[in-house]
Amino acid sequence: MQEIKFILNGENVTVKVNPNETLLKVLREKLGMTGTKEGCGEGECGACTVIFDSRPVNSCIIPAAKVNGKEVLTIEGLSKNGELHPIQEAFIEAGAIQCGFCTPGVVLSAKAILDKYDDPDEETIKDELSGHLCRCTGYLQFYDAIKLAVEKIKEMKK
Ligand code: FES
Ligand code: FES
Repeated sequence: MQEIKFILNGENVTVKVNPNETLLKVLREKLGMTGTKEGCGEGECGACTVIFDSRPVNSCIIPAAKVNGKEVLTIEGLSKNGELHPIQEAFIEAGAIQCGFCTPGVVLSAKAILDKYDDPDEETIKDELSGHLCRCTGYLQFYDAIKLAVEKIKEMKK
């Protein structure tokens, strides 16, 4: 067992991990972050996406020990003071949530896209979301939701 310390959703956390434990397992089973979903468990579906040091990653293939001293954002850290993030609002308004299983990962990748681009075109959005599988095939609604989120964020900055 190794003790690791990192910043999770803006808070300092300390947790003991085994060398073979993934970040996904530690987030869900030791830190209660069950919004991070397990799909394939092999880095192929994007359901387990979290933001690790400003980049979206598949937490099912990241050893937990790797985040020692770093920063991780899960879906639980996106809303502030009980208010949804504009990306979350946009996903609801655009009808981009069907069964919801892939949604936390897609929303976090959407955040990473909008942190990188002010006004991404559809090709860029498609490209950046290419690692996400949605069994409900809500891809078009994802693109609409992200475009709507761009408008919401522009409005907030006025
Ligand atoms: Fe991690 Fe599928 S559960 S990529
Ligand atoms: Fe069901 Fe994507 S909304 S898997």
